[in-house]
Amino acid sequence: MLRVFVFLLCLATAIHARSLCDLSADDGIRCECTETEAVCEPTRPLESLVPADHRLPYEKFKSRRNVRTITSLLLQSPDDKSLLKKFPNDIFKEPLHFKVVTVAHGALSVLEPFTAFGSDIVRELTISECDITELKKKAIVGLKSLMKLDLSMNLMTEFGTGVLSDLPMLEELIIAHSELKEVKAHAFVELGALKSLSLKDNKLTSFDNELLTGLERLERLDLSYNFLEKIDDNSFVDVPRLTHIDLTGNRLLSVTPTTFKGLYFLRNLSMGYNDLTSLPDAFLRDSRVLKHLNLERNRLRTVTLDSLHGLQVIRPDFFLDLRFNPLTCSCDLYYLTELRKRRLATMANEFEDPPEFRNLQCRVPDGDSFEPRVIDDELFVKNQCQELGGLAQHIPPPSSQSISHSPTYSSASSLNTSTANPLRPLLPVILAALLLLRLVEH
Ligand SMILES: *[C@@H]1O[C@H](CO)[C@@H](O)[C@H](O)[C@H]1NC(C)=O
Ligand SMILES: *[C@@H]1O[C@H](CO)[C@@H](O)[C@H](O)[C@H]1NC(C)=O
Repeated sequence: MLRVFVFLLCLATAIHARSLCDLSADDGIRCECTETEAVCEPTRPLESLVPADHRLPYEKFKSRRNVRTITSLLLQSPDDKSLLKKFPNDIFKEPLHFKVVTVAHGALSVLEPFTAFGSDIVRELTISECDITELKKKAIVGLKSLMKLDLSMNLMTEFGTGVLSDLPMLEELIIAHSELKEVKAHAFVELGALKSLSLKDNKLTSFDNELLTGLERLERLDLSYNFLEKIDDNSFVDVPRLTHIDLTGNRLLSVTPTTFKGLYFLRNLSMGYNDLTSLPDAFLRDSRVLKHLNLERNRLRTVTLDSLHGLQVIRPDFFLDLRFNPLTCSCDLYYLTELRKRRLATMANEFEDPPEFRNLQCRVPDGDSFEPRVIDDELFVKNQCQELGGLAQHIPPPSSQSISHSPTYSSASSLNTSTANPLRPLLPVILAALLLLRLVEH
């Protein structure tokens, strides 16, 4: 008896679910629906979701789409973008009840003031691939529960101040894969709850701290794949809680000793695929908990412990990627063999090199050309490099995981590699001589 009842109930629900979106109705929009999701395409130029009276009576619409159960809407016009020239401004209105809204493949061009406006319900809003060229002041405003906003894959070249306003819960903002050349000063000042900001793959050439004013809670910043050439002093003083910064794929030529000042919680800094030629001493002096430093594919000839000095304590599982830099072989790099050993000890397979050490090479000057050498113990032992003073302070033994009990960094002189190894100035000559010897032997 009970079984029959349950069966009937299921059947009723199924029929109900199917009737949510009546494909035969012609009211300018065609939807495929499940119990909770609607995927809709306009069939005529669309202005609003709730049809005007002459097309479909409101009550009929209400019964046709039992919108209470549908919480997710994808509205797109994949074939003819011109059918979606206007953001349907009633998308957040009763009887609709969407928590997740995606509008894609449209031709919206300019987002006027109050385009997306006034909802306590919507949590995630995406407006992508809609050819947006400009967002006016207060274009997106008063969405009290909005936590994530994605405006990627559009055409705007500039992002102004006050475009986003009264979004008290917004934690994640993504404006990636667009044409942004400029973000105005204080553009995000009203987004005090923001934790993650991505401006990945735009055309930004400059960056300064005014871009981040007001973002006191920001933890993740993605500026990868832009055209940034320099980052000023104290760029991140307004965002002291940053844990992740991604600057991969820019044109950075240098950073200053105070670029990363005040970033006490920084854990992951990626600066691969840039044009860095050198790093200042102690440039990460405030970032004691840094674990991941990616510097691959730059133009660095060396990265000494003096540059890393600021780290105070290099964690046993510190990830340092220096691959594909024109590193010159010298005792300055001897610490890498120690880093590699520590990293190996943290890995499951201790016979496999950690990824950042695979193919890690330095070069020995050899007349006009350079001879690549794998960075390993053999290289340094042969050249009588000594364990550098201060390394132990930088890399505590793997057993002591606790940072707070690790010794603070030693005095600068103990790290002075020039004094630690009197042979250093002669190194290139010695290396070249050794190489020559080997060549003669063969
Ligand atoms: C650090 O960030 C890079 C780039 O965003 C990412 O690939 C990597 O997995 C991150 N590492 C950690 C430990 O979070
Ligand atoms: C390291 O030693 C060189 C030469 O002895 C000296 O000029 C330099 O100031 C020293 N650097 C530090 C940080 O002590």
